[in-house]
Amino acid sequence: MSKAGKTPTLRLDRLLANMGYGSRREIGLLTGAGLVVLDGAALRDSDQRIPVTPDLAQRMMVDGAPLDPPPGVTLMLHKPLGVTCSHKEAGPLVYGLLPDRWRRRDPALSTVGRLDKETSGLLLLTDDGALLHRIIAPKSNVAKRYQVTLDRPLKGNEAAIFASGTLMLEGEDKPLLPVETEVHDETRAAVTLHEGRYHQVRRMFAAVGNHVVGLHRDRIGGLDLPADLEAGAYRVMDEAAIAAVFGGAQA
Ligand code: URA
Repeated sequence: MSKAGKTPTLRLDRLLANMGYGSRREIGLLTGAGLVVLDGAALRDSDQRIPVTPDLAQRMMVDGAPLDPPPGVTLMLHKPLGVTCSHKEAGPLVYGLLPDRWRRRDPALSTVGRLDKETSGLLLLTDDGALLHRIIAPKSNVAKRYQVTLDRPLKGNEAAIFASGTLMLEGEDKPLLPVETEVHDETRAAVTLHEGRYHQVRRMFAAVGNHVVGLHRDRIGGLDLPADLEAGAYRVMDEAAIAAVFGGAQA
């Protein structure tokens, strides 16, 4: 089958309503006023079907502004400290870093795994459930690297313990998969994980008698947190960035 044959189509009012632009009645008013424009021409008929292609964001204008990324979007976000990866907990949420309208999207954006409230760094969000599952599936073996700052000096045996594949976390009955450790100095190291247990990095260092005081994720698979992506900012990922997640380290 050709690629074009697989392109999903949606009624214009359904597409825009699902992207949070308003009710279908409100979308009808926008189109009636000539405020939805595709390839330079006003679309006045809100029940016409539109092929939903990734380039729609470059081709469609709504009320004078480019269309938001259409469904099938994946973001990289630089999570700041102090925000929670949840749709409903109290306090500041990562979703609050996105435009208001995006919170009304259907399908909704979800974080790919979670970072603790007091962990910063690279966080992916997507509305593509199949992609989300592919990233977190153990068989994809998408590694995650964390930069760790410790309360006490390293003893020197941590890298060997973490690499052993025998370290048991408190309250668990299955040892951790081997973790690679790169020691930067007495109180700073990077660890690369091949699984994601609850509070894993903090609990690993607790298991060797230390305490994590700073935690920052700077790589997922082969995708590095871009140096120019500031804390709190996000970027839409293109195909190459998504492929990097499943690839090796970037050169
Ligand atoms: N390990 C942790 O302890 N916290 C995180 O946020 C991620 C990994």
